[in-house]
Amino acid sequence: MCKLILKAALVMTAIVGIQAFAANTMKPHHQAAGLKCNSCHATTPFQAVSTDQCVQCHQLPQKKTDYHGAPDKHDSPHYGPTLDCDNCHHEHEASENYCNNCHDFDFKVP
Ligand code: HEC
Ligand code: HEC
Ligand code: HEC
Ligand code: HEC
Repeated sequence: MCKLILKAALVMTAIVGIQAFAANTMKPHHQAAGLKCNSCHATTPFQAVSTDQCVQCHQLPQKKTDYHGAPDKHDSPHYGPTLDCDNCHHEHEASENYCNNCHDFDFKVP
């Protein structure tokens, strides 16, 4: 019973809080570039943003001259250039190194 009430409270918080939470956690590089919510979110209420949306502005594979000796994450032997951006780059939470589910590469995802 107690658990149920707690769960309901958490769901309420999530619904009320999610928009403000997202707004506070937009990535600095996108904030600095002057992006607005609807630069990525074509619809309100907000839905997850697909790779199609990212590549409207970004071209991939985007090879950097210095990949710090690690392999190209944007064009790997397994997935080529087809891996969805959101596997690594999260907009509203810490990004993650998807490759390190299996490897031990030393690179940081912006
Ligand atoms: C650069 C693109 C981008 C911008 C700009 C952006 N978002 Fe997002 N948003 C995403 C992506 C990608 C997701 C999917 C989850 C993730 O990666 O964090 C998402 C998820 C969300 C969600 C959760 C939707 C769901 O069903 O999963 C909300 C709410 C949201 N964004 C609100 C906002 C608000 C508010 C702003 C403006 C302050 C904003 N976003 C700006 C890319 C963006
Ligand atoms: C409306 C155009 C636009 C959209 C849509 C967009 N971006 Fe960006 N993004 C930019 C601009 C402008 C910058 C800053 C200049 C640059 O580094 O290219 C940037 C910067 C970045 C950077 C940091 C680059 C660095 O040097 O650190 C990453 C990573 C990135 N975007 C990923 C994404 C992902 C993933 C999505 C889809 C969820 C996305 N972007 C959607 C315009 C966009
Ligand atoms: C497997 C993880 C991974 C995936 C998937 C991924 N990226 Fe990246 N991305 C990175 C890493 C790591 C960097 C930092 C580059 C480095 O290590 O030098 C980066 C850098 C970037 C940059 C900055 C410019 C550059 O080349 O350094 C942009 C823009 C970017 N990614 C966009 C995207 C977009 C758009 C997608 C989806 C089409 C995507 N990324 C998919 C890991 C990933
Ligand atoms: C599900 C597990 C898994 C994931 C996720 C994964 N790898 Fe691998 N990768 C492997 C395995 C297994 C091998 C083969 C290991 C060996 O033979 O030493 C390998 C081998 C490689 C090799 C060397 C083989 C070659 O053809 O050159 C590279 C480079 C590589 N992975 C890059 C990546 C990158 C970049 C990512 C992220 C985009 C990634 N991997 C994600 C499992 C994975």
